[in-house]
Amino acid sequence: MNIVVMGAGAIGSLFGGLLSNKNNVMLIGRTSHVNAIRKNGLNIEDKTQLNVMIPAEDSINKGMLSPDLLILTVKSFDTRAAIDQALQIIDDDTIILSLQNGLDNIAKIKKVVDINQIIAGITTHGAFFSKPGFIRHTGKGKTVLGELKGKKTKRIKHIAGLFNEAGIETIVSEDIIKEIWIKAIVNSSINPLTTFFQCKNGYLLKNPILEKIVEKVCKESTSIAKANGLDIFNQHTIKKTKEVIRSTSENHSSMLQSFKRGKKTEIDSINGKFVDIGRVHTIDPSMNEILIYLVKTMSGK
Ligand SMILES: NC(=O)c1ccc[n+]([C@@H]2O[C@H](COP(=O)([O-])OP(=O)(O)OC[C@H]3O[C@@H](n4cnc5c(N)ncnc54)[C@H](OP(=O)(O)O)[C@@H]3O)[C@@H](O)[C@H]2O)c1
Repeated sequence: MNIVVMGAGAIGSLFGGLLSNKNNVMLIGRTSHVNAIRKNGLNIEDKTQLNVMIPAEDSINKGMLSPDLLILTVKSFDTRAAIDQALQIIDDDTIILSLQNGLDNIAKIKKVVDINQIIAGITTHGAFFSKPGFIRHTGKGKTVLGELKGKKTKRIKHIAGLFNEAGIETIVSEDIIKEIWIKAIVNSSINPLTTFFQCKNGYLLKNPILEKIVEKVCKESTSIAKANGLDIFNQHTIKKTKEVIRSTSENHSSMLQSFKRGKKTEIDSINGKFVDIGRVHTIDPSMNEILIYLVKTMSGK
């Protein structure tokens, strides 16, 4: 398959590197990363060890072939700009896969691309951009893909098959939208709290007061998701959040990593969406709102 990865940072380079074994993959990333890849190949270290020469560009240009699959792995605040650039090479047959976190990516993509061309995914892999040309695969995880309308179509099974063939353990979900919401609910407490306290994920369950706050945020986010039509329960999302905290106890959350690197965080696409949607359904989103104020006060972004 011809695949373009739009936003070759940590997760995009990891997936692109693994898929390049049996597919024609082109990475689109920032100039320094692209130059390093062209010179010495893409290096993946830690849980995956790989050095691969892989085509890479720092922008999309019209001369490029239309891919069969475009994987979007920019941060959520870059989604609109990235998809606008990608339009130059997207044709009616190109499938767009959003592998991002956040609740607003699909809405942004479908503003400019036919909704039938869009599929979505979530992944629990952990990856970190060490330096240009180098990615650290910090945690092996699982990937879930799905059609927005839920059907297990031939194309979604085919793409999941390619991922599995590349060593990316993948299943197809018949409710990927729910999976995205559950991930956002989990992230709505872990990400901002670990950023504010500058702690590893595991610390959130070591302190009983913090554990209470995790539960309260989770409860609020779940109520908002429920009001928005999701068949979802508090006991389940709290249990899931605590499982994630335990299984990633030694990790620094992606939001804390962005904060430490002086980068913008995805808080508007996670907690920000819970606040917006909560207000629509007249559910008080104060917990999410306070977390946004705290993180934005710290980061200034
Ligand atoms: N990393 C993980 O472990 C992980 C796990 C699960 C899910 N996710 C999700 O996956 C998404 C990507 O995360 P990530 O950690 O891989 O982020 P990342 O390392 O910041 O990767 C995104 C890359 O895309 C680049 N970029 C942005 N706009 C571009 C454009 N128009 N053209 C070319 N390059 C562009 C960014 O450059 P600049 O930084 O210079 O803007 C950055 O290098 C997020 O939604 C995240 O929540 C990540």
